[in-house]
Amino acid sequence: MADRKVICVLLLCLLPNCATDTMPIGMFRTECQDRHFWLSVKSIFLGQSFRFDVQDVSGVHTLSGQAAAECGYNMGLDSWGNLVLRASYLACYVANEKDSAFQLLVLLVNRDIVGEETSYPLQLTCPLHHPWKPREIVCEENYMEVSAMKQVPPANQMGMEWMPTPPVMSEEGFREWRVVFHVPSNQQGDVATPSMREQTLPVEIAHLLGYRIGTTDNRVLLRCSYGSRLSYKLQEKDIEVEAVSATILFKHHWTLLRADVSLACTINKASMDGNNILLRFPKVLAPLILPPLRNERLRLGVEGVVLSDCMIRQRGYDIQEQDGAVEIRIPFGAEGGSIKSQVVEGQYSQSFFLDLFYIRLWQDSQWALTEYRSFRPLSILYLPKTPILINETNVSEGLFSVILGSFPRDVFLSNITVASKSMAWGEAEQMGVHLAQVPFPNGSHAYLLQTHFSHPLVSQKYLGQGYRRYTLALTFTLSVSPQSDLYHYPATLEADVQDVVLPRVKGSCSGKGVRLQLHYGTMDSQWEVYLGGHRLDWELVELGGYALETRSDYFSMVVPLYGLGMAYEGLSLQGLVVTVSMTFEDRETSRKELSFTQRCVFAVKELLVCLPDNTVLVMVDSSSVSPPVEPELTSLLDPTCVPIETEGTRSLYSFSLDTCGTVATLEEDHIVYTNKVQFWPNAPFGMKTLNSPNPQFSIPVGCIHPVNGTRTLTIYQPRALQAWPYIRAFHSHHQHPGTQANPFIQGQKRNGLPAGG
Ligand SMILES: *[C@@H]1O[C@H](CO)[C@@H](O)[C@H](O)[C@H]1NC(C)=O
Ligand SMILES: *[C@@H]1O[C@H](CO)[C@@H](O)[C@H](O)[C@H]1NC(C)=O
Ligand SMILES: *[C@@H]1O[C@H](CO)[C@@H](O)[C@H](O)[C@H]1NC(C)=O
Ligand SMILES: *[C@@H]1O[C@H](CO)[C@@H](O)[C@H](O)[C@H]1NC(C)=O
Ligand SMILES: *[C@@H]1O[C@H](CO)[C@@H](O)[C@H](O)[C@H]1NC(C)=O
Repeated sequence: MADRKVICVLLLCLLPNCATDTMPIGMFRTECQDRHFWLSVKSIFLGQSFRFDVQDVSGVHTLSGQAAAECGYNMGLDSWGNLVLRASYLACYVANEKDSAFQLLVLLVNRDIVGEETSYPLQLTCPLHHPWKPREIVCEENYMEVSAMKQVPPANQMGMEWMPTPPVMSEEGFREWRVVFHVPSNQQGDVATPSMREQTLPVEIAHLLGYRIGTTDNRVLLRCSYGSRLSYKLQEKDIEVEAVSATILFKHHWTLLRADVSLACTINKASMDGNNILLRFPKVLAPLILPPLRNERLRLGVEGVVLSDCMIRQRGYDIQEQDGAVEIRIPFGAEGGSIKSQVVEGQYSQSFFLDLFYIRLWQDSQWALTEYRSFRPLSILYLPKTPILINETNVSEGLFSVILGSFPRDVFLSNITVASKSMAWGEAEQMGVHLAQVPFPNGSHAYLLQTHFSHPLVSQKYLGQGYRRYTLALTFTLSVSPQSDLYHYPATLEADVQDVVLPRVKGSCSGKGVRLQLHYGTMDSQWEVYLGGHRLDWELVELGGYALETRSDYFSMVVPLYGLGMAYEGLSLQGLVVTVSMTFEDRETSRKELSFTQRCVFAVKELLVCLPDNTVLVMVDSSSVSPPVEPELTSLLDPTCVPIETEGTRSLYSFSLDTCGTVATLEEDHIVYTNKVQFWPNAPFGMKTLNSPNPQFSIPVGCIHPVNGTRTLTIYQPRALQAWPYIRAFHSHHQHPGTQANPFIQGQKRNGLPAGG
């Protein structure tokens, strides 16, 4: 900026407690801006309390409150806590050299904790960079100021040269000045077009009412703070404006002159319009403009520096005219301002500050040129801003990936919680959670988190049809400096993937029983496995005497014939037909996901099966009988009950316990049914002994059933006379060492005995 020159600061040592020795470097910054001195003091340099004094020939003056405003001084802290002073070139105590160079001696007075004061004197000297316009108006934060050229008629009348030089402005002459204020006659009346009345006051009285009236070589000026006695408010295009309408009457030579020193400043607040901060001001400020308006121009600036059109576009600022109002829109967080984060009742929010000013230039029918400056520091406080979570999960890579942002510099990620496991940033990588900060060109940043679907802290749920849902439950814990307030952002990510390999079962029949081979799948802890209706666990393996063999990708076991888990299907001369069925149920939903059945036929010589429905199946072998028996000629006690099938020396009977001559006897709470398979040889003629009552062959067969209660299937091997199922000794093993390797055989012991069929 050409018009932004850093002035040299002279350090004076005129004061008793001068601090020249300890004058700090880099703590003060001074600039000559368009129409004011600008001074800032670093926040870290400020004492327990502090103030500005100014010194001129008449002595030291303390700047504070209303008097400072009326004198043209504005002080405040910026968003970084630095102290900023803006003093008008036309302010009180400024040494003015012909309206073209200005000097001010400012003292920063720091008071420490014990009340001791140290002064730091700063001599500010500024030349004028741009000539004064006929009329200039300043709407500062705490005051309004207007300065106008003294419009003196040309002294070109002939015959006046002999006259002595007129007296320069004297205290005496100044005292004769009058100010005519125009005030609405009835404040309750029509605000849009109030009827005005005049009130003429001498300068001293106006001064007492808070109006600083002054004059320089070429200009007259009026300054007052907001809300002064003779000001009034009006609405222009729904925008609130404070105005002072005044004319100064003064004598020049022997002529009475007048200068319009009216003021009008907008006093509306900025508002939010979507993501933009909206500031409106009226195109025409009625108290200041006598239409028609010509050659109007608007420029924007930040922190005292005017921005080029290009910079305005770059920063996304927008200026538009809408229904007689000018609308300035500035994106929240835009360059030029500063963002501060806060946590308010658990909600993340941001405040935004921008030290905006605008300059308007215009021509109207009264003034050749008016320059109007308005200082409008914008602040939007505690705007809730929920961070945005971008889900970039890549299913084909099996990777959860999220970006949370964006955050200004005062926010950093302190902890991350995955499935209720909290870890600091440094620990996350070791735990298999990848974290990274993603910087953006505009200075803000976001956080990237990545973790694999297979991570132990990612939960899995089976959905059926080979689909599973991976769920990552996260909480980002962010810390906001400088207070380290914590903000928690919870998020849940899910991905449904058809990647479940179900276990595979292969069955075969071996001489000793049914062999099952279980090939592991990918989600085996999800399944509850049942073998013939019994939950497969270590107890069942012990109880059933299953021979187990484990490999890395499968395990096999043999369910012995007549063992637990085997089911009877039928008996024929080909053998005993049994099945072993295995089912896989989802532990959570109990839905049957998979089932497998292996059927085997075991060759048996003799067997007796008592079925619960009163049927008896019996296979008899007469090979050891001598002389040989013809199986097809055997029968039960009732000779009409003959075998249903015979082959070689074997015959198979099937009959009901209430037929074929079966005898039932009650023994305690059981009924014992008995019958016999007999052979009456068809002896050759002449050798038949009619009185021989005994058959050649007789084998007792029968069943025992409870009188009351459920009848169960029982199988007997007649020679051994051992009933099946049988009970093995109970071995108490709480945890089998092979549990981990065999996900199917886990779980608790189960009481109760297996049913036989
Ligand atoms: C900064 O850039 C990021 C990424 O482009 C954007 O999301 C964020 O809103 C920007 N921040 C501000 C304050 O403009
Ligand atoms: C996922 O990652 C693969 C391999 O890196 C890539 O080809 C694919 O485009 C990514 N998909 C998405 C949705 O990002
Ligand atoms: C962050 O995690 C660590 C353990 O990794 C824990 O000790 C600490 O309390 C956590 N901090 C917060 C703010 O949750
Ligand atoms: C995130 O992205 C994944 C993969 O594209 C998708 O399956 C999931 O529904 C998305 N949303 C959440 C909240 O996880
Ligand atoms: C069987 O039940 C009947 C009727 O319920 C009863 O009268 C009888 O005593 C029971 N018999 C035995 C042996 O329990």
